[in-house]
Amino acid sequence: MARIPICKAADIPSQGMKSFDSPLGIKVLIAQSGDTYYGYQGICPHQDVCLDEGFFDGATLTCHQHLWQWDITTGAAVGLAEAPLERFVIEQEAGQLFVLQSSALKVSELFRDASDAVIARLDALARREVHDSLATLYDIGDPADDVYVLETGRVEFAIGREDRTMPAGFMLRKGEVFGWAALLEDHPRRIAKAACVEQSTLLRLNGAEVLKVLAEEPASGYLVMRQLSTLITKHLRTRGGK
Ligand code: FES
Repeated sequence: MARIPICKAADIPSQGMKSFDSPLGIKVLIAQSGDTYYGYQGICPHQDVCLDEGFFDGATLTCHQHLWQWDITTGAAVGLAEAPLERFVIEQEAGQLFVLQSSALKVSELFRDASDAVIARLDALARREVHDSLATLYDIGDPADDVYVLETGRVEFAIGREDRTMPAGFMLRKGEVFGWAALLEDHPRRIAKAACVEQSTLLRLNGAEVLKVLAEEPASGYLVMRQLSTLITKHLRTRGGK
């Protein structure tokens, strides 16, 4: 698990909050409540607004734009808010605050049953990308070369034809996988559009390289492909294809 330095504890106003541009490539908000420091995404999940411009009363964080609110101890949405905050585990040592970051692959529905050795090989293949709100990751008809694992943020899907699409839901949980057509034969093109609803961090893996690793590690490969068939069935029932 990576330990990423964010700031000094003394940088945070007593019972207050402050945002930092982190080495993760995203803004991280640190808030102190009682003796505990909490870490969350620094940008509002509603629109591209810095949360440290809002209000914090020691228990509830409020975005000043449209008054979405969150419980500072959990990041859970309260009041008007329609989405929770992405939470980071914070560790303190000798006055320094760190974010603890585990691999999104390890918690992903698709890859979690793979061995640690396979996870490490896939982690080495993954490119970490940070995309701004509204960025299109792929469009209908694009080549289906890469599979994505959500690390932070929120991604929305639309299905239909190039000239006429309709929403197909969104995902926001760390470890959710999309673009899995890259792991299938005879699905060379995207059948959905994927775009970021807020600033998002993604692991991007080339599908052919993933399949090569899984073929070389058949025990993990079997478990991952079995899970893939389960996910496809679930998504076809609930959201339409991605
Ligand atoms: S931008 Fe934060 S609540 Fe709307």
